[in-house]
Amino acid sequence: MAEAAHTPCVFSGIQPSGNLHLGNYLGALKRFVETQDRGIQSIYCVVDLHAVTVWQDPAALAHATRELTAGFIASGLDPERSILFNQSQVAEHAQMAWVFNCVARMGWMKRMTQFKDKAGKNAEQASLGLFAYPALMAADILVYHATHVPVGEDQKQHLELTQEIARKFNHDYGVEFFPVTEPVIEGAATRVMSLRDGTKKMSKSDPSDMSRINLTDDADTIARKIRKAKTDPEPLPETVKGLEARPEARNLVNIYAALAGESVEAVLADLGGRPFSEFKPALADLAVEHLAPISAEMARLMQDAAEIDRILARGAERARAIAAPILRETYRIMGMVGA
Ligand code: TYM
Repeated sequence: MAEAAHTPCVFSGIQPSGNLHLGNYLGALKRFVETQDRGIQSIYCVVDLHAVTVWQDPAALAHATRELTAGFIASGLDPERSILFNQSQVAEHAQMAWVFNCVARMGWMKRMTQFKDKAGKNAEQASLGLFAYPALMAADILVYHATHVPVGEDQKQHLELTQEIARKFNHDYGVEFFPVTEPVIEGAATRVMSLRDGTKKMSKSDPSDMSRINLTDDADTIARKIRKAKTDPEPLPETVKGLEARPEARNLVNIYAALAGESVEAVLADLGGRPFSEFKPALADLAVEHLAPISAEMARLMQDAAEIDRILARGAERARAIAAPILRETYRIMGMVGA
């Protein structure tokens, strides 16, 4: 297999578009820290070029970029051991994206459900960038020859497209250059749902703030949101099967399991049979215990914007050192003179 030749390297990204929430934490950040702690080369990116596929207020984008960086660090990411930077500081992402715009087919892009969801009925008014978004995402990953990408379930289709792009480039140029990257979608919280509707994903764009727990929420707010979370009248089941057709119960149990670092089975073995009036306070305590120190640390880090900017600039320099030779080799393979 071509990919076996590539050294393990993890890449993932998060958009700085405000409201970093529990879904991002459990589905992404917490798992990034675990990967780093296993000693695998890890590259994490605040994807500001992705964020501007829909209009962003410039001051708000700068704030969200720094706040997300603070969120990474407060969650336990060590910018010395991992590489942490913002996308626009490494021009190779946009350059590789152009190459992939020429590899990806219109038909592939038209199938992307996230574009359809985001553009809605107004596809004609969506930016060209929003349509091309998944090719930039493939560039983010492949410009480092990343072999593994930890993400939540909503990114699965984009990662399949990344594989298609790598395969087509390798095939079209008769090389085994790009790895066929593996999505890593694991654990109890790869799809954290809204606290108001267990059939909808927890999302930063939900108009109701009660639908999500933000990493910037204080302890009282976290506890209140959990207390008010939608549930059903039954007590918790004893088995995983008993969560079927109970989306809200399943979501809260998944959140509990992910926060506690336990399996869903273990949580139900312990708490099965309890009513929500007992389970919710236990979940609120667990959430506050985990998240309050993160939000406090984020607020502390945000007091020194210059230090955050230094961390991002240093990360960008390290990222560029990996990306530049891979882009140059890509150009060389394609016949670009001077590469
Ligand atoms: P973004 O910014 O929407 O989300 C960041 C990460 O959080 C995960 N996530 C969730 N996980 C569980 N439950 C949820 N409710 C939930 N909501 C979000 C996402 O799956 C993601 O892992 N296109 C990406 C950013 C990106 C990227 C990349 C990711 C750009 N380039 C390259 C990986 C590799 C996005 O918009 O994620």
